[in-house]
Amino acid sequence: KQRRPLIAGNWKMNGSLVTNAVLLSELQSGIKNLSASAADCDVAVCVPAPYLAQVQVALQTSSIAWGAQDVSAQAGGAYTGEMSVSMLKDFSCAYAIVGHSERRVYHAESDALVAEKTLRLLEAGITPIVCVGETLQERKAGLTEATVARQLNAVLSVLDAAALAKIVVAYEPVWAIGTGITATPEMAQQVHAFLRSQLALMNAELAEQVQILYGGSMKPDNAVALLAMKDIDGGLIGGAALKSIDFLGIIAAAI
Ligand code: G3H
Repeated sequence: KQRRPLIAGNWKMNGSLVTNAVLLSELQSGIKNLSASAADCDVAVCVPAPYLAQVQVALQTSSIAWGAQDVSAQAGGAYTGEMSVSMLKDFSCAYAIVGHSERRVYHAESDALVAEKTLRLLEAGITPIVCVGETLQERKAGLTEATVARQLNAVLSVLDAAALAKIVVAYEPVWAIGTGITATPEMAQQVHAFLRSQLALMNAELAEQVQILYGGSMKPDNAVALLAMKDIDGGLIGGAALKSIDFLGIIAAAI
């Protein structure tokens, strides 16, 4: 493939010191056992903020990167409950998810806020994983492309063309998240190709370098077909990232 695959786990609000330690050690030994070509796949886990210190210690000598699930758009100060990019830097986060549909829905995050957060991360040298995706209602109304274009373009409008190569995009149809229903590979590919065409309007060459991940009930048994699609460069994995056998199965499908 033209782009390195990225398999990123989004633990969401799951885990404990004890269960994380087991999962992290199983992942590390599992990746070592996979094959030499495991080096051809980027792997990351995005964990709840209280566990960043734990993953930093556990993974610092491994090939697995780590990151956060959100970040504040503010640099610092009186913002109770928020965490800044400099705090993520303190724990050597390589990635942070922004604009996950659960943040957009439960915390009313706007496209403009997601764009601001993306900027803060880029300024700090942390790779943003920018999530976009339509609801079932929007899909049924024929608004899939309009929705993801609106969400993506809000972010692109604040970036320099050169920054394009520094973002990761994740297409997560809201109706496929945690539901066991996956977009078919063809349905997902269609949206991924559309997203890449939107990126290409800004810079055609850099658009080819952007990793566009699929998220929404990706499991080892559907990952092969999804990842075989031309514009699907990896996965943002929720439920299946919580079990080492499933997460390793998806990594194996990517290499
Ligand atoms: O960020 C991950 C997605 O929301 C997918 O979650 O794999 O549990 O459907 P899921």
